[in-house]
Amino acid sequence: MKIDVLTLFPDMFSAVMSESMMWKAREHGLLEFEVHDIRDHAGNKQRKVDDSPYGGGGGMILKADVLTRAIEAVRQHDETPVILMSPQGRVLTHRVAAELSQCERLILVCGHYEGVDERARQLAINDEISIGDYVLTGGELAALVLIDAVVRLIPGVLGAEGAQHRDSHADGLLEGPHYTRPSEFRGLRVPAVLTSGHHAEVDRWRRRQALKRTWERRPDLLEKAVLSEEDRAYLSQLKDEAGD
Ligand code: ADE
Repeated sequence: MKIDVLTLFPDMFSAVMSESMMWKAREHGLLEFEVHDIRDHAGNKQRKVDDSPYGGGGGMILKADVLTRAIEAVRQHDETPVILMSPQGRVLTHRVAAELSQCERLILVCGHYEGVDERARQLAINDEISIGDYVLTGGELAALVLIDAVVRLIPGVLGAEGAQHRDSHADGLLEGPHYTRPSEFRGLRVPAVLTSGHHAEVDRWRRRQALKRTWERRPDLLEKAVLSEEDRAYLSQLKDEAGD
């Protein structure tokens, strides 16, 4: 996959994209990553990229001509998703990340100031994504969140051992608890089933823990999750035990 980012703050990407899994993905040729400074397309000596909004109201708006030029300089094919990071976009979920992980190329546009001129949106942007219902000072951190969530789903990035299929949200549920050595820590023991060597029992325990955690913390997710008869019976049991 190739990801191009358009930003006014290129340095914000260097640390994150040069560490850990994102770096490994680049090292292994699974990800090509390039940052472009929108200011290089200002087209004036002062490198001015924004202006005050028509109709007043304060704040500054990223200019349509500058942003459109910057995007057109990077985009080679019309079908490439050009995604504006914005609190007005569709919300990033596991499903959206999985959809984007299938793309060969993504162009991410980081807005700043009060917003971008609507005509740049109309002419050069074809998707808009938010990372949650809150407002950041700019799209850079949101773009980094999206990149991480998408790139870890590219086959090979987490290695053969990657357990993405068991991630929280991958099957609509939260993940249950994990343990590693030692088997006892400050009087707390690892659940016996995990050291039993009985794989079917381990799977059943993990499924039940995932259901329990989701029911306790995010019951809204259970409405959309795909549940078996056994899952439903277990949830009824939990509810009975809680006196619901
Ligand atoms: N830019 C500012 N706030 C944002 C958000 N919540 N998601 C994506 N981009 C943003």
